[in-house]
Amino acid sequence: MISSRLVALIGLVGSLFSHTASGLPSTSKFKRQDTLEAWIASESAVAYINVLENIGPDGTDVAGAASGLVIASPSKSNPDYFYTWTRDAGLVFKALVDQFITSGDSALLTKIEQYISSQAYLQTVSNPSGGLSNGAGLGEAKYNADGSAFTGGWGRPQRDGPALRATAMIAFGRWLIDHGYADTATSIVWPVVRNDLSYVAQYWNQTGFDLWEEVSGSSFFTVAVQHRALVEGSSFASQVGSSCSYCDSQAPQILCFLQSFWSNNGNFVVSNINTNNGRTGKDANSILASIHTFDPTADCGDTTFQPCSPRALANHKAVTDSFRSVYSINSGIAAGNAVAVGRYSEDVYYNGNPWYLCTLAAAEQLYDAIYQWAQVGSITITSVDLAFWRDIYPSAAVGTYAAGTGTFSDLTSAVAAYADGYLAVVERYTPSSGAMAEQFDKNNGSPLSAYDLTWSFAAFLTAIARRNSIVPASWGEQGANDVPSACGASSAIGTYSTATNTVWPTTIVPTGTATNTATTTRTTTTRTSTTTGCATPTAIAVTFDLTATTAFGQNMFLAGSIAALGSWDTDDAVALSASRYTSNNPLWYVTVSLPVGTSFEYKYIREETSGSITWESGDNRRYTVTASGCSAAATVGDTWRS
Ligand code: NOJ
Ligand code: NOJ
Repeated sequence: MISSRLVALIGLVGSLFSHTASGLPSTSKFKRQDTLEAWIASESAVAYINVLENIGPDGTDVAGAASGLVIASPSKSNPDYFYTWTRDAGLVFKALVDQFITSGDSALLTKIEQYISSQAYLQTVSNPSGGLSNGAGLGEAKYNADGSAFTGGWGRPQRDGPALRATAMIAFGRWLIDHGYADTATSIVWPVVRNDLSYVAQYWNQTGFDLWEEVSGSSFFTVAVQHRALVEGSSFASQVGSSCSYCDSQAPQILCFLQSFWSNNGNFVVSNINTNNGRTGKDANSILASIHTFDPTADCGDTTFQPCSPRALANHKAVTDSFRSVYSINSGIAAGNAVAVGRYSEDVYYNGNPWYLCTLAAAEQLYDAIYQWAQVGSITITSVDLAFWRDIYPSAAVGTYAAGTGTFSDLTSAVAAYADGYLAVVERYTPSSGAMAEQFDKNNGSPLSAYDLTWSFAAFLTAIARRNSIVPASWGEQGANDVPSACGASSAIGTYSTATNTVWPTTIVPTGTATNTATTTRTTTTRTSTTTGCATPTAIAVTFDLTATTAFGQNMFLAGSIAALGSWDTDDAVALSASRYTSNNPLWYVTVSLPVGTSFEYKYIREETSGSITWESGDNRRYTVTASGCSAAATVGDTWRS
């Protein structure tokens, strides 16, 4: 397996930069800044490659996982996370689809296709929550790694999964439509999406388990992502020549219900209602809801709790403050300075600790907000979020501050520094290998619970993208933020059908110049220097695409002069994958993470069925890993020389 060597290699690079600074982020903000940039650059490549390593069938850390399935973590015991959760997978693939759209990374195309095909199949797998005929089975939380039903006891159903999955698939469906593949969006993607939209429209008003799989009731995160899914589902339906009346009738009702989670007295979101669990309700559930319903073209609307809305900022303060006194690694850190963030303060799972993905979400909400203020062209401070602002900018006062004024730029700088503080917390508690587990110890910061949690890595990637002002497409918040005057319990019945057409055309070509609505409408309104541009990566995930016609039983490898490619030892060469291989497009590929500046020679080798090795002809090939812009990924296209 190549991964341990890679991680060690990247760790070496990372450690040169990431563990030299000491002291809390709050006391050494500026000194740490350089360190943070270098760490972000190296961690970006580590995170990306680790996400891919946890996806079947090629993921090197999850042997046995079926094609397209995201395994939550390679950990098979204490805890056993060797399953695919619909929620984790939906969030991870939304991040990968967005990355595919902006980077054109060819290695991702097959993964996305495999994901959608795998979900079409999973939708048909009867499980303890039910089957497909009335949609009930779609609410099942997790499946075995081979795609079969998990039949043990569990908190079920969990009704966020279908919504998150629809959102991920719609993002890809839109890319297909924008690039001339509307037929594929219509015939392959839409039938799978439609089942999930039907589920949301039918069941949103019934209780279920929250994203942490513990509380049966109504969960803010679930309701928020359900609203978003139906809104974009409706426009996707019309793009594929269909319609979604059940989306249109239910979305406003869901938005209406969403309002009932807000506590006017407390100025925060009560994350679980219709339950009696004795908790305060302050929960990273609500911060995750805000970032996963972020719309870059929205204004700072309170009704959808957009990241820059007064409600969401007040809530950010309430939730993050709730962890200041419960984790000893946070002790002594004053309000307005970033802390380690967990799920909720009463958590007892592994004794209750901070989570990487929750701390990253606290950063991401703030980066989202900075983007939105720039779009809107002003910041409005109200009595609702005044306390949030006072923490980071003591002279803050209620009012509207236009972009271009000194106050606007001071306010956004303060938010950017605060957001970077959350990243610095994550940096501080991430080992030099770059590995991200689920949690880190509240007393000493060491990694805990499931190792290499796929969602942790994806959370890092999305936080960094937002920090670099790389944002996903709009989901239509502007047309869907009016709350109806009367809320009612309702439901609508859609359509459930087995999505059978999952044979993807081989003609789809990735493009890095894809138009991303949101990015192209970006304005150049004043941005603070801390968030403009991006960290130059120190390591790059390099994909080697090799065109080589082979016979069944032959395998292709990449050998080269550096340790990551086996130092010319054919036993240590890196295996290429044939998962995209077709007779029209005989493609082998592999992604390897390499430090920027590495120059090396390489060649491809073919392993015959007998086990003997054939080297390709000609001179050694040469490559130098260079950083170009923000991207931590690069592709090399080669053709086998026989
Ligand atoms: C496993 C769940 O995944 C986790 O979220 C929960 O806290 C524990 N079980 C304890 O219920
Ligand atoms: C436990 C978390 O609480 C839940 O949100 C997640 O889906 C599973 N672990 C798998 O990562």
